[in-house]
Amino acid sequence: MCGIVGYIGKEQAAPILLDGLSKLEYRGYDSAGMAVYDGEKINCAKATGRLKVLYDLTHGGETMPGCSGIGHTRWATHGAPSDVNAHPHFNADKTIAVVHNGIIENYVKLKKKLTDKGYEFRSETDTEVVAHLLDYYYKGDPLEAVTKVMHRVEGSYALGIIFLEHPDVIYSVRKDSPLIVGRGKTGNLIASDVPAVLKYTRDVYFIENEEIARLSAEDIAFFNVDGEPIEKESKTIEWDINAAEKGGYEHFMLKEMNEQPKTVRDTMNPRIKDDQIVIEELGMTDDEIRAIKKIHIVACGSAYHTGVTSKYIFEGLARIPVEVDVASEFRYRNPILEEGALVLIISQSGETADSLAALREAKKQGIQTLGIVNVVGSSIAREADKVMYTWAGPEIAVATTKAYSAQLIAQYLLAIKFANVRGKLSDTEMAAMLKDMKKLPDQIEMLLNNKERIQKFANRYIAAKDVFFIGRGIDYAISLEGSLKLKEISYIHSEAYAAGELKHGTISLIEDGTLVAAVATQDDLFKKTLSNIVEVRTRGAFVMAVTNEGNTEIEKNADYVIYIPQTNKYFTNSLAIIPLQLFSYYVSVGKGCDVDKPRNLAKSVTVE
Ligand code: M6R
Repeated sequence: MCGIVGYIGKEQAAPILLDGLSKLEYRGYDSAGMAVYDGEKINCAKATGRLKVLYDLTHGGETMPGCSGIGHTRWATHGAPSDVNAHPHFNADKTIAVVHNGIIENYVKLKKKLTDKGYEFRSETDTEVVAHLLDYYYKGDPLEAVTKVMHRVEGSYALGIIFLEHPDVIYSVRKDSPLIVGRGKTGNLIASDVPAVLKYTRDVYFIENEEIARLSAEDIAFFNVDGEPIEKESKTIEWDINAAEKGGYEHFMLKEMNEQPKTVRDTMNPRIKDDQIVIEELGMTDDEIRAIKKIHIVACGSAYHTGVTSKYIFEGLARIPVEVDVASEFRYRNPILEEGALVLIISQSGETADSLAALREAKKQGIQTLGIVNVVGSSIAREADKVMYTWAGPEIAVATTKAYSAQLIAQYLLAIKFANVRGKLSDTEMAAMLKDMKKLPDQIEMLLNNKERIQKFANRYIAAKDVFFIGRGIDYAISLEGSLKLKEISYIHSEAYAAGELKHGTISLIEDGTLVAAVATQDDLFKKTLSNIVEVRTRGAFVMAVTNEGNTEIEKNADYVIYIPQTNKYFTNSLAIIPLQLFSYYVSVGKGCDVDKPRNLAKSVTVE
């Protein structure tokens, strides 16, 4: 996601900011900007596109004098990538400059209140709310204004702030977005991540949630959310730059898997308000939702697998017929799209050629389209009639993990909302489902913490030749994704089968020791899947089972069992996929494969 750098000290700030931002490029961004205090006023430079554009615009920072400043690389969330939306953002008279990483969830409400008080907004961003809110609360004491803002904003944020009236300090705060402070030799720094400061210092403070840092050229002070001073200890960073970019993780895939609790929270929380689902960007009235006759879900790869899952949910909960298509098939099969249909195009990158072509086909036939997209301003996001963003942040590893999890959440929200509006799910039932949904991030975290056990198991399978994934219903959809994860990063042949279909041919491939991963999270299908487990085990398969806590009877028939916490039956994919991702990851690592960039694959498939 966005990157923040700030510097205050004896050297010219702008070149240091640019250098720091360049070390955060891996986080992904589409525009960049800096604000530097020149001794009189705060100057600002912004540029859409690569950091090089900002670099050239400011001659490597040389044209921006001053020894105190904040810089930012923006990964667009609210508002398309543009100079206006690029950070820093200012209050009206440019006496307060702000850079922000995260999402202010209640920005619509705050914006309305500020607008009513006469504040004028220039950008479409959520961040600008912070600049004006600081202005509103600032009565001469910056710390007081900062703490008041922290009490008002909801969501996630790391902020870098300059007050023109207090040019000898920079303020910085965080909640659920990363932020570190570095104590340098010639000055002090803030950054979203360690690589940005490593050239200047290895002496770093990790800022915790709702803590405030106040940096001057010589000093660093810390405060809690009530503005009371707190003590913090610095840590010496031993990592090299490469490891630091990955936040200390060995691979981006591992980092991104570990980001899933946050991704799920970010995609879900802003859309749940008082036990109701509010998807403003959907722009559909209840009558329009009630009028939907059919949903077509079209996507590729893992995004397609999320669609296979949500077919069960839309049909099961909302009783809307759903067809799921692989985009490359959909576009050429002359699909019959009738009035009243809704076409859902799901894509992390928003640039997948086949998915984009499918979207255009639907539009050509006059059918309303909704994109579920991660990259803001991407082609699918721009061309779809409506777009619902997954707030997963940039995904670097080719094998998707966190974007996949976010796509599931977006579709759960849609399906539950549609079911409620169409009278198939009462408010009470919906509230119960949302309660379970809100538990998912912690449950995912718990499963991620179990990684060592999975790693040990995975190490036994690095020489496997064939692996089969089986399941029924939603468990089949999970199997599809588990199988794809394994094959794409470990190069082990694997196939996913609807468990009941196995005996219609594929079971002939099972021999002594063949690994079969059986997913059995659906209570009503549990016994059926158990029979299929017995069938393959009788033929020599080694069975790894993924099932719900409490289903201990499976231990009689499976060789290795992974339990997932109890959740609503429609949400089990979000949990069961975690051990399967970890399994694939550790097999790939064990085999010495290039985990983040598997052979022959590209992150964004922009050709058909
Ligand atoms: O960017 P998209 O979501 O449209 O990409 C779709 C597929 O190419 C993608 O999910 C692919 O299957 C991943 N490599 C799976 O990990």
